[in-house]
Amino acid sequence: MAINKPKGTEDLLGEDALTWVYVRDVAESVFTSYGFKYLEVPMFEQVDVFVHGLGTATDVVRKEMFSVYSPDGYAKISEGRADELKPDQRLALRPEATAGTVRAVVEHNLLEQGGAPVRLWYAGSMFRAERPQKGRLREFRQIGAECFGTADPAADAEVIIMFMRFIEQLQLPRESVRLLINSMGDDQCRPAYRESVAAYMREHKDELCEECQRRIETNPLRAFDCKNEACHKIMEDAPRITDALCDDCKAHYEQVKHYLDSQGIRYEEDPRLVRGLDYYTRTVFEVQVTDGLGAQNAIGGGGRYDKLVETIGGKPTPALGFASGFERIALALEAANAPLPVPAKPDVYVAVAGSEVSAASFDLVQKLRDNGFIVECDRQNRSLKSQFKLADKCEATTVLVLGPDELAQGVVTLRDMLTHDQKTIAFADVIQELEHVLGYDEDHDHECCCEDDDHECCCDHNEA
Ligand code: HAM
Repeated sequence: MAINKPKGTEDLLGEDALTWVYVRDVAESVFTSYGFKYLEVPMFEQVDVFVHGLGTATDVVRKEMFSVYSPDGYAKISEGRADELKPDQRLALRPEATAGTVRAVVEHNLLEQGGAPVRLWYAGSMFRAERPQKGRLREFRQIGAECFGTADPAADAEVIIMFMRFIEQLQLPRESVRLLINSMGDDQCRPAYRESVAAYMREHKDELCEECQRRIETNPLRAFDCKNEACHKIMEDAPRITDALCDDCKAHYEQVKHYLDSQGIRYEEDPRLVRGLDYYTRTVFEVQVTDGLGAQNAIGGGGRYDKLVETIGGKPTPALGFASGFERIALALEAANAPLPVPAKPDVYVAVAGSEVSAASFDLVQKLRDNGFIVECDRQNRSLKSQFKLADKCEATTVLVLGPDELAQGVVTLRDMLTHDQKTIAFADVIQELEHVLGYDEDHDHECCCEDDDHECCCDHNEA
């Protein structure tokens, strides 16, 4: 019986797998240059980390978390004794990594009193039981960064700029990317704002969808994100957070914009940008692409969460960060025809003509790999003709043939797969000859003797 992958998951194969490694490498190089250090947190955590961290009224916590049970825990569930589960038996696959990162920062006491900000980044799978569609998966990969210990608006601008630099390095055309920003206010101003939105929604209750009617009492700000056309229209005239910010939040937001302006970062202010998780305070942002993604056009988003460290058991610590969805980035890169990595072709294919040369061909292949060549070799005793076909298939332009005659004479036959020309090379000269044939002797860095007064220079530039 064939078993297929679970709904909403993807096998990363071939070029897709290469793209994941590539996007991750680009993130690493950009984030490292901003002082961020890599960390990995568990794929599952105690469910309380997410419930307290993300908020009980969020869609992610209410309906999208995958539960995880150990055999003990599962036995209690199936016997109807769920209330006997201890907190460390109530586990969930991580739907995002911010809450887990905060838990790790608190647990390992990474924040020193009066110390420098702690900057961390991560890359890996997240799990949300959403209805799968293009750009929306149940297992998806995020690349994210979190910065702890500073409330300075410069840090907000820095994190946003780092995200935009990452996008730029991936060569996503800037004109197909929108950066949206907003401020969500804080404990001072948000409760009153939230209530004014709820009051406005009550006035329009009958025109709102069922979900938004429920949100009036639980999470009114989420109605700004409702995909229902009627709700969208009504929420356009709802009170705006930017008119309701307290003086401190207003000043903070103005400073963030000032820093972005000073670096020529283009952004759009969107007073309806509320984000889907409850932990945000003050700055929030989202990066959307205009082509290739349809409704799931957010390739990343984040913001400040100055209360979350405290919520998860740490000392009050301002913090902020973002995460970007790899699968959406990959779709956007493809739609924009941005350069993507291609699988490396072998430099050389070693064709083995007969089992009596197996040991010698094994040595030859190792020697070639030790010298940095990408080598393919089929060890299935196929005919030479089939091996040439395989070499063509894997796009090797050079084949080394080793058979009993060659072995007896201490040579190999080098075949050019494009011209079919062949020549014989002594074992001792194989590396040098291959470097020459493949043009590596020209490309390879070598110490230039120009700097050395006692030598005549060997470089082309002096020969001109
Ligand atoms: P989020 O907006 O829920 O934020 O997710 C960030 C990004 O992950 C999205 O913009 C999207 O690109 C991708 N993403 C989310 N859900 C899916 C899905 N089901 N399928 C494919 N891609 C998806 C967070 O997760 C926050 N933790 C970000 C953050 C970090 N805020 C502060 N620090």
